[in-house]
Amino acid sequence: MDYQSNNRNAWNGLADSGSVFAKVASDEECRNPLKVLDGRGWLPPSVAGLNVLCLASGGGWQAILYAAAGANVTVADISDSMLRLDEREARRRNLQLRIVQTSMDDLSCLSDQSFDIVHQPVSTCYVPDLNPVYSEVARVLRDHGIYISQHKQPISLQISHRNERHQFVIGVEYFHEGPIPKQQDESYREPGATEYLHRLEDLVGGLCRNGFIIEDLREPKRADYRVDVTHFGYRGRFVPPYLRIKARRVVRTAANSPASAPAKTIWTPGSPGFP
Ligand SMILES: C[S@@+](CC[C@H](N)C(=O)[O-])C[C@H]1O[C@@H](n2cnc3c(N)ncnc32)[C@H](O)[C@@H]1O
Repeated sequence: MDYQSNNRNAWNGLADSGSVFAKVASDEECRNPLKVLDGRGWLPPSVAGLNVLCLASGGGWQAILYAAAGANVTVADISDSMLRLDEREARRRNLQLRIVQTSMDDLSCLSDQSFDIVHQPVSTCYVPDLNPVYSEVARVLRDHGIYISQHKQPISLQISHRNERHQFVIGVEYFHEGPIPKQQDESYREPGATEYLHRLEDLVGGLCRNGFIIEDLREPKRADYRVDVTHFGYRGRFVPPYLRIKARRVVRTAANSPASAPAKTIWTPGSPGFP
């Protein structure tokens, strides 16, 4: 089965079985949606009236919170069951959402430069190639639009198991190509999903190559010092699971292109005018 169908089925199963990753926004969260969405102050003080694409973020959380904050929200996801939660929650709360079922690497149903913000929770691990995702996000974002994305760190996907001393063993090669084989350590993996390891040169460098400027990069701390060694919070003390990036789309014009910058004069000792 191809990666899209397989991951659609896997996420339908997770949503239908009430997974924690299919947790809808609560009433309390909807009372202060921007604070919940944006603990780091990456968003503008208000998103009211802005066009927001919640990408690969079905499940009734991100899209509902942005809509509760007054944004015009489009939610795109591959899983019908995850999107049904958005539809149900929007109806229940009397919010408007545009719901699109598609894969993140094909946003052809969305117009060029039509969004102010694209918000993508952890999900790039479900596609083999990041390039079409980033180039599609760049296409649909307006000049100076914000792209907030969270990803699984490559090191976290490389852990295969623990040894007898509860040390974490790197069993998946950094340059692994193709779907990651099933491993004994399943923390931060979703059962049945087809996942791919993207290296930092793809996750971070890929943004730069697709016309984004990186404004911030964080590694959410998932270390827990009170739990016993079998808990995933213990794993978080050694291996950071996620990478969160704030990037801004800057459309290149003749005026702001580095190629159009005037050439600098290079002074060498002995040359006329050397200070
Ligand atoms: C971690 S969930 C994110 C949403 C959830 N609301 C959350 O906060 O945890 C990852 C989402 O990625 C979606 N997904 C997986 N593969 C996808 C693809 N190729 N294109 C679009 N969405 C995809 C899944 O259906 C799932 O809804």
